[in-house]
Amino acid sequence: MTLTGTGYAKINLALHVRRRRDDGYHELETLFAFARDGDAIAIDPDAPPGLTIDGPFGDALAGEAGDDNLVMRAAKALGRPAAIRLTKTLPIAAGIGGGSADAAAVLRLLGEGRDAAELLAIAAGLGADVPACVASVAVRGDGRGDELRAIPAEGLSGMPLLLVNPRVPLSTGPVFRAWDGVDRGALGDGDPLAVALAGRNDLEAPALSLCPVIGEVLALLRAQDGVTLARMSGSGATCFALFESEAARDAAAAVIGEARPDWWRLASALR
Ligand code: C5P
Repeated sequence: MTLTGTGYAKINLALHVRRRRDDGYHELETLFAFARDGDAIAIDPDAPPGLTIDGPFGDALAGEAGDDNLVMRAAKALGRPAAIRLTKTLPIAAGIGGGSADAAAVLRLLGEGRDAAELLAIAAGLGADVPACVASVAVRGDGRGDELRAIPAEGLSGMPLLLVNPRVPLSTGPVFRAWDGVDRGALGDGDPLAVALAGRNDLEAPALSLCPVIGEVLALLRAQDGVTLARMSGSGATCFALFESEAARDAAAAVIGEARPDWWRLASALR
């Protein structure tokens, strides 16, 4: 029997970087949210273990199809190496979860019935964003981003969302290393949309210094009608906008597609 699931695109509605740690990570306060769309995962637990990658961004990952791939490591960490097909529809090195979301989907599919705390511990061992991606609902993350706290997320669910990536891959490590070390203050508490609106992404400036086209993506998103919030996600280069209506989102997607047909876009909604 084939198990199928989705590695939902991850968005950081806000991401405050508070300080560098001695282990190479940074202390964060972030609001995670997830799109309804993402990479497709299909697992045949009875076939010989192996990874097949296809989809629009599959070629970009072709060199990483070995056992080191995070989805294979997720299956092995559960003691269930398996035959996995990964259909990559999200750009890689893009600040929207990518490998973390895919690994989390594998943990959900192959870890069904496991104790939730055990699953989250395995997830944290695979990467800082993987626990939030296992949840794949809006959640607050502290510490490395892996200390999760539930938030009242009902108001976010269904909000129209547009993701735009200028097709420039950006690795997470160098963006964090370009952060200026200035603590600009804590993320607030309370209604998540209000907290997000009052918040920031402290990685925007360092990402822009490495990848200036992000400034054009943000400017174009912010110029559209009906935008509630436009911001970079994670360490970039993908930027997102939340819209007042699906019509406003679709109009913005059309305008941006016309202006920059070379950029990647995904019209979706928050889960
Ligand atoms: O945990 P993961 O492998 O996804 O993290 C990738 C890189 O992102 C880390 O090696 C680190 O450079 C950076 N990072 C960080 N602080 C965090 C999360 C990630 O510095 N809280």
